[in-house]
Amino acid sequence: PERGRFGPLVGSIDEGTSSTRFLVFAAKTAEVLTYHQVSIPHITPREGWVEQDPEILVLKKDPEVILHSVIETINVTCDNLIKLDISPEDIVATGITNQRETTVVWDSVTGKPLHNALVWLDMRTASTVDRILQNGKRNKNFLKNVCGLPVSTYFSALKIRWLIDNIEGVRRAIEEDRCLFGTVDTWLIWNLTGGVNGGLHLTDVTNASRTMLMNIDTLKWDPQLCKIFDIPMNILPEIRSSSEIYGYISESVLKGIPISGCLGDQQAALVGQMCFHQGQAKSTYGTGCFLLYNTGTAIVQSSHGLLTTVAYQLGKDAPPIYALEGSIAIAGVAMQWLRDNLGVIENVADSMDIAQSSGEVGEVYFVPAFSGLYAPYWRKDARSVICGLTDETKPGHIVRGALESVAFQVRDILEAMALDCGYPLQKLLVDGGMTANNFLMQIQADYCGIPVVRPLMAETTSLGAAIAAGNAKGVEVWDLDNVQAVPSDCFVPSITEDQRDIRYSRWKMAIARSLDWVE
Ligand code: G3P
Repeated sequence: PERGRFGPLVGSIDEGTSSTRFLVFAAKTAEVLTYHQVSIPHITPREGWVEQDPEILVLKKDPEVILHSVIETINVTCDNLIKLDISPEDIVATGITNQRETTVVWDSVTGKPLHNALVWLDMRTASTVDRILQNGKRNKNFLKNVCGLPVSTYFSALKIRWLIDNIEGVRRAIEEDRCLFGTVDTWLIWNLTGGVNGGLHLTDVTNASRTMLMNIDTLKWDPQLCKIFDIPMNILPEIRSSSEIYGYISESVLKGIPISGCLGDQQAALVGQMCFHQGQAKSTYGTGCFLLYNTGTAIVQSSHGLLTTVAYQLGKDAPPIYALEGSIAIAGVAMQWLRDNLGVIENVADSMDIAQSSGEVGEVYFVPAFSGLYAPYWRKDARSVICGLTDETKPGHIVRGALESVAFQVRDILEAMALDCGYPLQKLLVDGGMTANNFLMQIQADYCGIPVVRPLMAETTSLGAAIAAGNAKGVEVWDLDNVQAVPSDCFVPSITEDQRDIRYSRWKMAIARSLDWVE
């Protein structure tokens, strides 16, 4: 193919909870030229446990699973480019964005994982949480001033502690100084830059801010936090900014291309939505749902159950920008549950039609607390409940209840955000797979009472990582000063305030039942 047809191109590896994708953007127009996606299987050895095979996440020699690899998505995407008569040699840099908190430990000598990755949704660390909280003597927020997070099964520190306590191979590797820890970005970067042959062991500030081990102010690993979780600091990666040349890809068709952007997926979506100003917020609907509110250079501590997290740091010398985050564990995964466990939908895309056709007879309220409840409740003991069943209830009502649970949980977050920030959000920018569901978008506007703005270009998470990579010093093909607002459509509230308040108060009753569950 002819070189330079679309000017410089930037790649974006997006390793989410359910799939791996590689997309190629034209830096001049922010247009996606092509991409390839593969799904990633979850391993669920016990109730509440969620694992993934780390080798499948990156590259695997076994032809059975090679399709589930970053290398494979890169290669197929580059083949697609050639078919479009675009030269892959125009790719000048690549960014990485990833599911956050998911914890990988591996042997630096063999390059082999010491255990399956513990996925962020995994609940096995419930007793580790109790131990750290000294069975209720310590408040779950006792470390919040240092790291911005409550003690929860969600974060990596608890998962590393569990692996050290329970896996002999991890303890041995630590004693022999061969153990490396990383979130998924770190594991990918280490493998893509050479693995056992000099792979780089690093992470970016956004991912580090999800471990519970980084000091939110100094942006360094915090010795006090590491001591509380009893985690050796020499297994931790180096913390870097979200936009700089970290190193170069050592294999695949992209050999020699710099990796120059790295952000947790929720933070990448904030960048991709161009929320660069204090007060802007976005909500991303994927496996879970995460609402991030840009607080600028200020570290705002929430008093209402939100997290304080690093939003981005676009360059070594750039100031870190912070965000308040409302995290919802179960969004898209509730649709998968309806499909795989209840069999009431054949595929996730059906949910809109089924929910819409159900009507509102005997409203059903569904609280999907499969990983406990995250923000603003932070209750690992919350139990899923479905309330309001009648003899008229049909599967469609339960599907509708599941979609409404996402919209109501976002309202819960907005309520907390308004209390923390002192004023309510005026509009909600949204993105992610579930936003293709117009029914969900409409009820989101209805239940929150504000306009919901959806970009026409759905790949905002990948775009954020591409922007960080293309903007890095030494690459500089993406000019942040010239970024255009993303074209979008908008859903406006269509129910009365009374209707909204009645529905929301019933949701709160369902939440109360979920929280009242006694084991
Ligand atoms: O914190 C978990 C989050 O990063 C997962 O994102 O898109 O896979 O729901 P997603």
